Amino acid sequence: MALTDDIEDIRSSFSDALESAGDDLEELESLRIQYLGRKGKVQQLFSLIGQADPEERPKIGKLINDLKEEVTDKLESAKAQAEAAKERKEAEIDVTLPGVQPFVGHDHPLALTMDKMQQIFTSLGFVTMEGPEIETDYYNFESLNIPKDHPARDMQDTFYIEDEIVLRTHTSPVQVRVMENYDPPVRIIVPGRVYRNEAVSARSNCLFYQIEGLYVDEDVTFADLKGTLQQFIHRFFGKDAKIRFRPDFFPFTEPSVEIDISCFICGGSGCRLCKNEGWLEILGAGMVDPNVFQYAGYDPEKYTGFAFGMGVDRIALMKYGVHDIRLLYDSDLRFLRQF
Ligand code: PHE
Repeated sequence: MALTDDIEDIRSSFSDALESAGDDLEELESLRIQYLGRKGKVQQLFSLIGQADPEERPKIGKLINDLKEEVTDKLESAKAQAEAAKERKEAEIDVTLPGVQPFVGHDHPLALTMDKMQQIFTSLGFVTMEGPEIETDYYNFESLNIPKDHPARDMQDTFYIEDEIVLRTHTSPVQVRVMENYDPPVRIIVPGRVYRNEAVSARSNCLFYQIEGLYVDEDVTFADLKGTLQQFIHRFFGKDAKIRFRPDFFPFTEPSVEIDISCFICGGSGCRLCKNEGWLEILGAGMVDPNVFQYAGYDPEKYTGFAFGMGVDRIALMKYGVHDIRLLYDSDLRFLRQF
């Protein structure tokens, strides 16, 4: 019965080998070749049948066939199991891997500056209003006390669309639009884009942003103007920021002032941004001219008010220590990602 012992040996050695192969597909394949291949262990058993007693042969043959079937079945199911395990493993998420950081955008430095300015004025009781960028000659000039052929028109180089239609050169036209529609008291700011037909340089662009302010009520004085703007500048730039008021002229305010702030970049010693003056002009302001009230339909005997217009770009340059206004419009991500 040596052959039946061989059959049992092979069965048990296969069993052990199968167990140690586990889910390893390569191992399982080499087991298949080892046992079921043409020169494999099971196949070799068949060639030994001749050594058995003739009457034993059919029984032995059946035992070998049973073994072959058993080995085949077990290998197949082990392979299926190994493949399923492999698939499961591939679908698994490794939570210990470092994540992929998505790129998160943010506001443009001009928008950041504008928001901060707006926040301060909102807390001082100003309401935000807006007006059109394509404006009529009437609102941009005439109603602001700048009649045709007045030399003051040369103060702002204008882009004309048609004879009477311009790209607004400042946000001041919204003053009149608002006064036409609301009774006093009004206390508004107007953020927006303005256009001027000027040579582009480090200090000026042909388009830029302004924030206009207007406060009209009974008994508004120049002290209110000064206090409001002083408060704004200290809240925006900090208590160390120095400001100075200089007399100026605007057709729509009387008296008018220009307000400078000590240059942020050089601290007053002179640099490219401040043209070596140590001061930067950031806003024009004044008491609303009675003629403007007349155009807007307010009684100049009853009401007084102040108005101001500030350049957002210049303020952004100072806040972030940037030397060239053109950087704000170039959309260069290397620049923008720094904010
Ligand atoms: N509109 C003026 C300018 O753009 C600024 C200004 C606004 C001055 C309001 C006085 C009052 O230069």
